[in-house]
Amino acid sequence: PIHQRAILINGEMRIWKGETRAVHSPVCVSDDDGRLSHVELGSVPVTGTAEADAALAAAVAAYDHGRGDWPNLSVAQRIACVVDFTGQIVARRREIVNLIMWEIGKSQADSQKEFDRTIDYIRATIEELKRLDNSNSRFEIVDGTIAQIRRSPVGIALCMGPYNYPMNETFSTLIPALIMGNVVLFKPPRFGVLLYYPMLEAFRSAFPPGVINIVYGQGHVVVPHIMGSGKVNVLALIGSSEVADQLKKSHPKTNRLRAILGLGAKNAAIIMPDADIELTVKECITGALSFNGQRCTAIKMILVHQSIAETFLRRFCEEVARLAIGMPWEPGVMLTPLPEMEMVAYMNECIADAVGKGARVINPGGGATVETLFYPAVLFPVSEGMKLYREEQFGPIIPVATFEDIETPLDYVITSDHGQQVAIFGSDPGQIASLVDTLVNQVCRVNINCQCQRGPDVFPFVGRKDSAEGTLSVHDALRAFSIRTMVAAKQT
Ligand code: G3H
Repeated sequence: PIHQRAILINGEMRIWKGETRAVHSPVCVSDDDGRLSHVELGSVPVTGTAEADAALAAAVAAYDHGRGDWPNLSVAQRIACVVDFTGQIVARRREIVNLIMWEIGKSQADSQKEFDRTIDYIRATIEELKRLDNSNSRFEIVDGTIAQIRRSPVGIALCMGPYNYPMNETFSTLIPALIMGNVVLFKPPRFGVLLYYPMLEAFRSAFPPGVINIVYGQGHVVVPHIMGSGKVNVLALIGSSEVADQLKKSHPKTNRLRAILGLGAKNAAIIMPDADIELTVKECITGALSFNGQRCTAIKMILVHQSIAETFLRRFCEEVARLAIGMPWEPGVMLTPLPEMEMVAYMNECIADAVGKGARVINPGGGATVETLFYPAVLFPVSEGMKLYREEQFGPIIPVATFEDIETPLDYVITSDHGQQVAIFGSDPGQIASLVDTLVNQVCRVNINCQCQRGPDVFPFVGRKDSAEGTLSVHDALRAFSIRTMVAAKQT
């Protein structure tokens, strides 16, 4: 077990002697009497508002209203620090991947992908910044005014990622924030915190004191406290809309806070009568169930045309039954334990609600559990008034409804509180083109005959309504963490 006691504040590893919290794996082992219990992975500090204040003070001093060393380093120097950091964590890949796998129960293959995708993201960010720097540190002369146009840091950034991509989605804001000259406070997610232990020394040695400070403790206590100081200039959060709203409100001058938010989604798959069933089933399986459906981009509602519903559901349930369910290190596994029993309880609550209102679990064994291991459940027919129709389940439950008229799925998307993505399956190019034109004004990505997803990471990752604020991508994140500034003079 890893019993982490060090807290990185102002370039120092401060040794924490106060309260700690045990970190358990979603994975259970059985004792001699067959009783299951969660594997204890170690413990982390539960720091409070005093440590949050110390981290904030270190960041404020390092930034020093833009006069600090870090915001004034050249782009090449900041890139060198990030390259140094990246080299150090790549050397510990195996350990970090293992921690991702054990802490959040993500399959080993997907944990490796998360690590490698993060490193690719960092490298792509560096290349993009080199291009941006060349194109933005330039002079323009217009109507007798000569201007040097720059991209300057925003200030102090608070970065927080989610448990489902604890490394990748945290780094997709943290690295752009740092490399653009901002200083960072960073709070690891509740699940996916120990994986930062092998990175502490890399953070400490690669960046100057105060440039990166890590905050532990209970999110609902320390984060509003930091926001309440009014000193955070950019809030970068991948998480829930509720948390984002609360945090924005806790900043005393909400209108001066820049927010980069990746929030909830209820992405629908719309299956037209002429859809290729095999392709549709394949894409809906991975779209809805990769990492147990714990992806904001997962397909969370399937709307299938009445005429092919029976065929689709039969083939879909056959494929669900073939999925590998088990422990994250087992080869080929797709469904693994959920992080905690509360998630299992929520899944059961959603099922009970839908069943109580007339839906059925149509796949044999759907919804069965062994502790946190939850067998995916296909619910049909799901309709307005059931929790699963509108709520983001974020787990291995697939609600399915039918439609006769295309207005029904369009209305579903239009009236949703979310607006991230839609997947359409069909083979009439004219009809798809007309649906795309309508849907792209409701969501930010329409996927044709393929599942919803975030990547490739050079593409914009964004959403309408309650799904996002600001745009993330390799390219957009650099803009999100910087401000266009200029120095102007009259031409003589
Ligand atoms: O949870 C939300 C993630 O952004 C999903 O990313 O589509 O690459 O799995 P992904």
